[in-house]
Amino acid sequence: MILPLSFLSAITFPLALDQAYGNPGPCSGNCWAHDPGLWQRESDGKYFLFSTGKGIHISSADNLGGPWAEIGYALPSGSTIAHGGNDDLWAPDVHYEDGTYYMYYVVSTLGSRSSVIGVATSTTMEPGSWTDHGSTGLSTDGSQKYNAIDANWIQVDDTSILNFGSYWNGLYQVDMASPLKIEDGAPNNIAYNASGDHAIEASFLFHYGDFYYLFFSSGQASKYETDRPAPGDEYRINVCRSESAREDFVDKDGVPCLESGGTTVLASHDYVYAPGGQGVLNDRSLGPVLYYHYANTDIGLAVEQFQLGWNKLSWIDGWPCV
Ligand SMILES: *[C@@H]1O[C@H](CO)[C@@H](O)[C@H](O)[C@H]1NC(C)=O
Repeated sequence: MILPLSFLSAITFPLALDQAYGNPGPCSGNCWAHDPGLWQRESDGKYFLFSTGKGIHISSADNLGGPWAEIGYALPSGSTIAHGGNDDLWAPDVHYEDGTYYMYYVVSTLGSRSSVIGVATSTTMEPGSWTDHGSTGLSTDGSQKYNAIDANWIQVDDTSILNFGSYWNGLYQVDMASPLKIEDGAPNNIAYNASGDHAIEASFLFHYGDFYYLFFSSGQASKYETDRPAPGDEYRINVCRSESAREDFVDKDGVPCLESGGTTVLASHDYVYAPGGQGVLNDRSLGPVLYYHYANTDIGLAVEQFQLGWNKLSWIDGWPCV
């Protein structure tokens, strides 16, 4: 029997509304990732995956689904920034501009608000090819309302903007004078969760259609083996959007991101636990792809066991979903 199309869509539509999350796309080889940054090389489309730890771990693959191999470090002897944690760099954010790849990274120590955002450059993204340029000028010593962690670069018209932060008082934004330095001046608060530990961080701003989509991670980021949070309080990926890259971000219900708003794009489900540390890659063949790390409950909950997840994004009524 051939069902009319209208009948089929009547069956499938309620499922789509039900926020069922797609499982991650395939991954073979060494799929470890932590706070991933992902970029495709201009010359050959090869994928480079950057992760928190030591001088920033680098993995590469010819296909998004692998096989992935760990190939070395961006800054094998750590950062030149004289600050605690300079041999254990965090949260890489990579982009390409005029023949150069830029990588922002964080020098900090767990639980402190004394942090520096540094930058390194390369022309190939390969291990050994990175030159450290030290601090971007964005740093915190614990006296600010924000924490200089989790940088994310975006070009908006003629200006480059660095999003960052934070836990404590949420997500912030500052203009850049050049790819290597921020402008002087106080950063702007763009998102804040008034509840609980104000646990939002890892912003990633992505321009699509008429909107700028502000993705961020909410909840407890690690210690899942020793200090597992109540279900639902672990990392998850939220989004707000605005027609401006700088202000007025709201969630799907119209709640401002500055007033605890945020629509969940991806949270724990099936074997996927605590997805976060995300970004969006405009993949050459797939289009926008959400990438993140997650704990696979079949493998383990330790940071050393986190896995790379990715899903092609679809947009329903102007909102991204996986
Ligand atoms: C804000 O924090 C509360 C308490 O931790 C949490 O339940 C809620 O999901 C958070 N909202 C967002 C948008 O992150």
